[in-house]
Amino acid sequence: MAGYTHGHHAAVLRSHRTRTAANSAAYLLPELRPGQRLLDVGCGPGTITADLADRLGPTGRAIGVDPSAEVLAQAAALAAERGLEQRLTFEAADVYRLPYADASFDVVHAHQVLQHLADPVAALREMRRVAAPGGVIAVRDADYAAMAWYPELPELDEWSALYRATARVFGGEPDAGRRLLSWAHAAGLTDARPSSSTWTYATGAERAWWSESWAERTVHSNTAATALAEGLATPADLARIAAGWLRWAGRPDAWFVVLHSELLLSVS
Ligand SMILES: C[S@@+](CC[C@H](N)C(=O)[O-])C[C@H]1O[C@@H](n2cnc3c(N)ncnc32)[C@H](O)[C@@H]1O
Repeated sequence: MAGYTHGHHAAVLRSHRTRTAANSAAYLLPELRPGQRLLDVGCGPGTITADLADRLGPTGRAIGVDPSAEVLAQAAALAAERGLEQRLTFEAADVYRLPYADASFDVVHAHQVLQHLADPVAALREMRRVAAPGGVIAVRDADYAAMAWYPELPELDEWSALYRATARVFGGEPDAGRRLLSWAHAAGLTDARPSSSTWTYATGAERAWWSESWAERTVHSNTAATALAEGLATPADLARIAAGWLRWAGRPDAWFVVLHSELLLSVS
């Protein structure tokens, strides 16, 4: 099935809008210089893109691309709000067919995008085509099977299995993090600086936000509709998993860690 696993339900977008360059692209920040040209592929609502654009100074230029008109409108509004519209634009584009000449960008970035694609290697090849020699490609993806939590509620095991099965219906690979380096090598990108980093949800406010977001997404998002349509879950299963998320968050000692893999790929 083609399409984007999560869809752009309000709960999904709320989650993406909390992302910043600091919490989602820290590994890339030392590479950024004033005046660079940066492309953010699968930019979503553009919060990370705007932070990255901010770091390129008045002479830098950034473009965010995404196939979804809905998120691009939000991203453009954010750029205007932050006074970045002269140096940050958003355009509709598909990572497999980027509408740019070869060697157009110094930095080509994709955050949580490759995991949703049926052909991440082709995507990396296309990102490489538009990257200039001497430039860098930066990719970061979560690894769903490596997420860790406590307490070990059965509903969260069900959530993990269901989410991962549903993501695969869309042709994606939810356990992407561990595969990033192999995808880069297959795309001919062998000069790699790998790293990993996490998001942690373990304070009351973090637990509430993370669990409410997943409880809502479990019942209402594109993933939920697909799980039902594909016979992977019943409405009762989804309701039980959503309630499990809220029960998890009710524990003052509950902990959740999201592991991400990151690669800085030098382009020659
Ligand atoms: C999990 S979101 C990440 C958004 C943003 N990078 C962030 O981290 O906040 C994945 C994004 O990839 C986009 N996407 C899906 N398929 C794509 C494709 N073929 N080309 C470019 N972007 C794509 C989706 O529309 C979605 O906005």
